[in-house]
Amino acid sequence: MDILEAIEKRHSVRVYKDKPISEDVRQKLDAFVEECRKDSGIGIRVAYDTPEIFGSGIAHYGSFKNANNVIILSGDKDEDVDEKCGYYGEKIVLYVQTLGLNSCWAALTYSRGKVRKMLDDGEKLCVVIAFGYGETDGVERKSKSIEEVVASKGDMPDWFRKGVEAALLAPTAVNQQKFKFGIKDGNPVAVVAGRGPCNKVDLGIVKYHFEVASGRKVE
Ligand SMILES: Cc1cc2nc3c(=O)[nH]c(=O)nc-3n(C[C@H](O)[C@H](O)[C@H](O)COP(=O)(O)O)c2cc1C
Repeated sequence: MDILEAIEKRHSVRVYKDKPISEDVRQKLDAFVEECRKDSGIGIRVAYDTPEIFGSGIAHYGSFKNANNVIILSGDKDEDVDEKCGYYGEKIVLYVQTLGLNSCWAALTYSRGKVRKMLDDGEKLCVVIAFGYGETDGVERKSKSIEEVVASKGDMPDWFRKGVEAALLAPTAVNQQKFKFGIKDGNPVAVVAGRGPCNKVDLGIVKYHFEVASGRKVE
């Protein structure tokens, strides 16, 4: 499966098999995360076999089950890192999908206290991603239309339409899809459109999808 297929196949999965991630997959994921850490400068940790973050048994969070593996995204306390966490987090989410795993972003439904204990002093927790072998591959959900998320009217170049289509397949907090894409001086631009939880993280996520599908960097 390549990254474009991963964009199409990925859906949030919250219920996982109680099956540890294989050694081979761990090695590949760790190497990929290390590259993302170097490129981004943000904090990225992979916590394997840690059921306490999403809870287990009766004390589990939200609708998560056997969410035993977690990617933790963090940044410097003084920096605005939300968009970067979204961009690099989604890069990892799609890679995880190509490895035959499933995932789900989480900003609320997990134990922040337990994760904070894993961070260093001066580090700010941004958001986490649960991952593992899903019980299912998730389901398709409702989406806005291309017209609803495109600022400029008129003909769209093919690369732009492909980018926006991929952005509409991206996960956003509570499926809010509060973003808009446009073209300025021939180049793609994207902005947050309206208030909502995590919309800067969402912006980073949708920019990554757009770039993969269009081949164009978004300002
Ligand atoms: C930044 C962010 C935060 C999210 N936080 C949560 C959460 O706390 N709990 C949860 O169950 N799902 C959470 N989600 C998952 C979204 O509800 C889900 O991505 C959205 O409904 C779209 O569905 P899809 O991922 O299947 O495309 C979050 C997603 C994003 C991008």
